[in-house]
Amino acid sequence: MHVFSDIKSIQEHLAKLHSDFKIGFVPTMGALHQGHLSLINQAQKANDIVVVSIFVNPTQFDNLADLDNYPRTLDTDLELLNKVNCDIVFTPTVSEMYQPNEQKIHFDFDGIEYEMEGKYRVGHFDGVGTIVKKLFEIIKPCNAYFGEKDFQQLQIVKKLVETLKLPIKIVPCAIYREEDGLAMSSRNMRLNKNQRQAAPLIYKTLTSAKEKFGTISVDKLKQWVDTQFANHPFLTLEYFEIASEQSLKPYEVCQENEPFRAFIAVYADDIRLIDNISLGN
Ligand code: PAF
Repeated sequence: MHVFSDIKSIQEHLAKLHSDFKIGFVPTMGALHQGHLSLINQAQKANDIVVVSIFVNPTQFDNLADLDNYPRTLDTDLELLNKVNCDIVFTPTVSEMYQPNEQKIHFDFDGIEYEMEGKYRVGHFDGVGTIVKKLFEIIKPCNAYFGEKDFQQLQIVKKLVETLKLPIKIVPCAIYREEDGLAMSSRNMRLNKNQRQAAPLIYKTLTSAKEKFGTISVDKLKQWVDTQFANHPFLTLEYFEIASEQSLKPYEVCQENEPFRAFIAVYADDIRLIDNISLGN
């Protein structure tokens, strides 16, 4: 496994590869878990080599404490990647990826960027777009793999590729869950025992909401979700939304025959957890 931390070295290495080589790319912020490994596994099946990046991107954090507290486990990440036969790892520093005082790019993603995560984490998707664009320009993959846990991010990245006309296929990967249903996330490692025991309520609420969808009004459904978290000792609901998979616009302003998803964001103290579920069959 080759590990590079500067752009020039990884580009020189990639330039030596056969021009027909298919590069699969899995961008991450590290603190790797089984969910990431499933993306890598999917990438390995469809590409000649797989590049994984590990970079905690400061421009996508709207909150400095969240950035500071984001788990960083580079040594164990590298061991894991070595074990699963990853070919190349890119671990740049912030100064390698950004000029001093460089601002994130402001993107127009057709309004998707202002819904849900964009509403609660202002500027988040400009930061994601900025770093994903830079990483794509460095790695130049054929296929790039993104988890559906960050469903809105996945749609944003598809829009980015479409807008910039990049020859990259964005491959969505199913959410990987713990046995009790909690969606795998790097942030889960920050949960204490009580929070961890409580956290499966998030997915449980989503699966029940899926059953209820269509049998009661969306308004009533939202009220029911509120009651699941009301006065909860460890979890606070930030939002629950039913939105179009394509436009990410709320159910209330969409055509009823569109495919919908339920989206949720919950805080356990300062740890923010998100999840979603398809409301189709
Ligand atoms: O999903 C993530 O881990 C990040 O948002 C990404 C795509 C690596 C960009 O920093």
